[in-house]
Amino acid sequence: MTDIEFDEHHYVSFSYFLERACGIVLGDSKQYLVRSRLAPLVKRYNCLTINAYIDSVIKGNRAHQTAAIEAMTTNETLWFRDDYPFKLLESPILSQFSLKTKPLRVWSAACSSGQEAYSIAMTILNFKKHQANSFRAGVEIVGTDISEEMLQRCRSAEYDQLAISRGLPEQFKADFFEPADNGKLRLKSQVKSLTNFRSINLLDNYSSLGKFDIIFCRNVLIYFSPEVKKQILQKIAACLQNDGILFLGASESISALTDKFSMVRCNPGLYYLIKPQ
Ligand SMILES: C[S@@+](CC[C@H](N)C(=O)[O-])C[C@H]1O[C@@H](n2cnc3c(N)ncnc32)[C@H](O)[C@@H]1O
Repeated sequence: MTDIEFDEHHYVSFSYFLERACGIVLGDSKQYLVRSRLAPLVKRYNCLTINAYIDSVIKGNRAHQTAAIEAMTTNETLWFRDDYPFKLLESPILSQFSLKTKPLRVWSAACSSGQEAYSIAMTILNFKKHQANSFRAGVEIVGTDISEEMLQRCRSAEYDQLAISRGLPEQFKADFFEPADNGKLRLKSQVKSLTNFRSINLLDNYSSLGKFDIIFCRNVLIYFSPEVKKQILQKIAACLQNDGILFLGASESISALTDKFSMVRCNPGLYYLIKPQ
């Protein structure tokens, strides 16, 4: 593909579209990334060049816009990512909520293919094994993402051997998975039944999701501008109960972005506690 097929003007227009549509900031030098991610779509939709595909995205072709957003998101994830959030859930966080008279509600925002939401579900089921009286009012884990393709994978709850090999402890594999027909492993219904998955763009309004006790919003804010991060953290704070807890990714921080949370340092790791209103 030549430069004539993808020029600077189209790169700038596409970057602007992407940031407005889903918050992702490309910066000045990601031409290679855009070229490699959009090239398959140029073929799929019989466009002549990347420039032509971008023209159609900018003019408002919905199918082309959705496919471009899907292509530009990074869906990297794994089971029990970073370890410490799940260790902290196990102890002391889940005990704090275990005798609630209302269902425990946890949100995995930007859940990708579901490993985060299902790791939370398995941690809670494991906790319940040892604390039979806990969470009698029930548990609901809501996973959301902008990518329909990822949400379909979440709902299928089936994972191939490569995905399984990334971070899943043997004991959890033995306890919570069963073989599926296609050589994959499927999460058992006791895990699936705690979860539901919905399409949510973090730039939009999500008050319809209701209030949560715990929110995981990890490894997604890194793609956004400071202004967008601020707005999202503001909306997330409004979705938390008074004693609510927020986990961010290991390399993410809220400093200078919001004063709605206090940081709780643990060993290892940390989480954010909503400040009393
Ligand atoms: C790197 S994955 C993080 C997955 C998981 N939270 C983790 O830490 O392993 C980032 C996810 O954010 C999603 N995403 C990107 N922009 C989004 C937006 N504006 N609204 C909702 N999800 C978004 C992507 O589709 C992708 O699945």
